[in-house]
Amino acid sequence: MGSQSYTSSFATIYDDIMERVPYYYWYQYLKHILYYYDKKPVNIMELGCGTGNMMKYFSNEAESIYGIDKSEDMLAIAQNKFRENNNVKLFNTDMSKKIKYDSFDFVYSIFDSMNYILEFDELSNVFENVYLNLEKDGIFVFDINTEYRLMDIVEGTKKLEGDFYTCYWRDIVDEENEEWIVELNIYLDKEDEIENFTETHVETSYPLEKIKKELLNIGFQHVDYYRSFTFSKGKSKNNRVHFVALKQKPEVSSFRQILTRIKWGIISLFISNF
Ligand SMILES: C[S@@+](CC[C@H](N)C(=O)[O-])C[C@H]1O[C@@H](n2cnc3c(N)ncnc32)[C@H](O)[C@@H]1O
Repeated sequence: MGSQSYTSSFATIYDDIMERVPYYYWYQYLKHILYYYDKKPVNIMELGCGTGNMMKYFSNEAESIYGIDKSEDMLAIAQNKFRENNNVKLFNTDMSKKIKYDSFDFVYSIFDSMNYILEFDELSNVFENVYLNLEKDGIFVFDINTEYRLMDIVEGTKKLEGDFYTCYWRDIVDEENEEWIVELNIYLDKEDEIENFTETHVETSYPLEKIKKELLNIGFQHVDYYRSFTFSKGKSKNNRVHFVALKQKPEVSSFRQILTRIKWGIISLFISNF
């Protein structure tokens, strides 16, 4: 099942709804993953970048950063944030389309963007696309909600409100198709009238070992996956995992790995709030 999502009305309220999301903590986690694998990327690409909330951090340190998203409306919000940054380029494309954008030493995707890829063959196309765009010593990191999490979501409707909108968020679990469906009913205050919009989001997931095998099939030499925001191996019963795929086998000292785990353990005590 597919449907239009991230249209103009939801793009308009996205940042307000996601205000509590600790992007800075997530950024710190990505930075620790990079340190763990001894990577210092300067050319970066985000897949499913949305309104650019993570690119904001990386744009301060990257020579160039590309954002890919299939929602023109999400990118329009991102564009406003990067008016002053001439190292940022945004592309309104589907991440599963094979396009050679440039050569990157780091490609990442966060906050469920991969869960929107509803067919495994399409996910494989995304991986091929990343492989095509990565330098030979490049690193690819993405998060994904597990099948376990999606099927464990409690169905129901919640009301989200902001200064200029009310949004009814209905969670539905389609066990047969292994999909989490979110129906959004959005009321936007527009001067004298209230406009009503609806849209549907559909997420799915895949077995973790199947994802790893596919990355290896495509040519990545080394793949790890972690319970999100840890450096412990991911398990099918975790809610979310982060995958790390490298084009070349890493040669990382165990000292660096131990140091990262300790540093991350301390940092996460102070800045985790999600
Ligand atoms: C939950 S949002 C995450 C946005 C952003 N990464 C963040 O952290 O706020 C998922 C994003 O993935 C994008 N997306 C979904 N499927 C996509 C596809 N096939 N190609 C490119 N972007 C896609 C959506 O348009 C949306 O902006």
